[in-house]
Amino acid sequence: MSLKTAIVRQFGKPTSLVGKLAGHIMARRSSNRLRNQRTVELMNLQPDSRVLEIGCGPGLALALCAETVSEGRIIGLDHSPVMIEQARKRLEASGSESSVDLVFGGVDRLKEWPGAFDRVYSLNLIQFIADKTDFFQRVFATLDQGGICLTTYQPRLDNEDPNGASAMADKVTRIMKEAGFKQVVRIGIVAGPSPALCVIGQKEVRR
Ligand SMILES: C[S@@+](CC[C@H](N)C(=O)[O-])C[C@H]1O[C@@H](n2cnc3c(N)ncnc32)[C@H](O)[C@@H]1O
Repeated sequence: MSLKTAIVRQFGKPTSLVGKLAGHIMARRSSNRLRNQRTVELMNLQPDSRVLEIGCGPGLALALCAETVSEGRIIGLDHSPVMIEQARKRLEASGSESSVDLVFGGVDRLKEWPGAFDRVYSLNLIQFIADKTDFFQRVFATLDQGGICLTTYQPRLDNEDPNGASAMADKVTRIMKEAGFKQVVRIGIVAGPSPALCVIGQKEVRR
């Protein structure tokens, strides 16, 4: 197996030295940085926002969230200790470590935060989630009324279907609606050669 193949295989759960390399690539690749930046912009964060990123990887988006969220809450969740460590270092370097809680674990941890957030997002996580119905039901439960879920996915052109963003957005849209999300829309993100799409849905306020 080539080093490139070995690194790409690590993206779902980076471990050991090759996983560290995968994390450094995620953090430096310009398409990844743009995708993170644009998704954070779409969240329209406020100083008191309560935000959760699932699959935070090396913490690019968390550091951007911390530039705005000063009185709220930011949690980054990841099941890779290597990624949690890289995110911790990134947040320390940007002086925002005290604004973000890094939590090690998988989606089963979402049950610990019922109704706790007004923004829950993920970036290039959804392709690794086998049971997407269960995932969006759990995300729905973590959101407060009026809260928003954002799911960004950008296929890598060298090893995934270039039309994959659209196919994934179709699937995510259907499953989000089934989970109870309303006003589900998709927004294109220009971030490098491969098209990215962010699917956004809201947990409506109960009257
Ligand atoms: C391709 S990386 C993307 C990282 C980051 N969101 C970004 O765009 O820079 C996917 C991340 O999701 C994490 N991940 C994958 N499946 C997960 C799960 N079931 N629970 C928690 N984290 C998961 C991986 O460990 C990895 O850090």
